[in-house]
Amino acid sequence: MSDRVSLLAVAVAGRGVVDPAEPVLRADDEALLRGRAAFETIRVYGGRPFKLVEHLDRLAGSAERIGLPEVNRLELEQLAQQALDAAATQDAVLRLYWTPTPVALALVNELGDHYDALRERGQRLISLRGVRADEPWLLPGVKSTSYAVNMAAEAEAKRQGADDAVFVDSAGTVLEGPTTNVWWRRERTLCTPSLDLGILAGVTRATVLELAGESGYTVEEGQFGLTELLAADEAFTSSSVREVMPVTELDGAPIGRGPAADELQAALRRAAGATLPA
Ligand SMILES: Cc1ncc(COP(=O)(O)O)c(C=O)c1O
Repeated sequence: MSDRVSLLAVAVAGRGVVDPAEPVLRADDEALLRGRAAFETIRVYGGRPFKLVEHLDRLAGSAERIGLPEVNRLELEQLAQQALDAAATQDAVLRLYWTPTPVALALVNELGDHYDALRERGQRLISLRGVRADEPWLLPGVKSTSYAVNMAAEAEAKRQGADDAVFVDSAGTVLEGPTTNVWWRRERTLCTPSLDLGILAGVTRATVLELAGESGYTVEEGQFGLTELLAADEAFTSSSVREVMPVTELDGAPIGRGPAADELQAALRRAAGATLPA
C-alpha cells in the first residue's frame, strides 16, 4: 500500500504548463530554505476541484500569517485549470503552492487506489505527542510547507505497524492527525476537537460538520481526552484526499465499525457530485 503516486502535470506562474521534470523554484526561495510557503491539497472529482474557493481562502489566510505577499487567487485558479487540462484526468489530487518569491504553482498528482482499499479495511492509528499550537508564532491553523514533523509522525506510525497517527498534547487532549482531522461517535453525537486547540480548520471537517447535521447527528466540538476517543462507538478521520476514513484500532485497542463513517463518506461523495461509487 504505497502512498507514492505520479506527478501528472505542473503549471507555473508566468510560464504555464511545464514538463514535470523541470525545475520551478529559485535556489533562494524560502519555501526551500526555510519551509516558508503556503499550500493546499485539493481533491479533484470528475475533473473539478472540490471546494476550491474554501481552499483558496485558507491559502490566503496561511500566506498572510506567514508574512508572504498577498495571494493572487485568479492566477492560482488559472494555473489549476491549466494543470488539470494538461493532466486530462477525472479524479486526482491538485496541490497549490504560494512561495515568498512569490511563485505560484499548481501540481496535479494521480490519486491512486490505496485509499479506497484502506477505507474498506479501516485504519489503525497510534497516538503520538504533538505540539498544541496555542501561541501565534506556532502558527495555529496555518497550512505551511514546514511539514517534516507531520511526515515524521506518519513514518513513526508506520514503523510501529499502524497506518497513521493522531496527535495528543501533553495533557492527553486529542488534536488532529498529521494530515487529517479526527472524529468519533457516541450514540448519535459526533465529537471532534475544536479549532481553538490550534488545529487546522479542515475544509472536509467543515463539510462533514454540515453533512452530519443533515444526516441527523449532533456535533460536539470541544476539548476531549484520548480516553474518550478510545471509548467511542466508532471513529474516523477526514481530509480532502482521504475523505472520510474509518478507524478500527487505536494504540492496539479495537474500535468498532459503525454507520456514521459510511453515511458521511457517501454524503461527501454526493456533495462532490462524484461519479465514483461511495
Ligand atoms: C494537519 C492537518 N489537519 C487536517 C487536515 C485536513 O484538512 P482538509 O480537510 O482541508 O484536507 C490536513 C490536510 O492536509 C492537515 O494537514
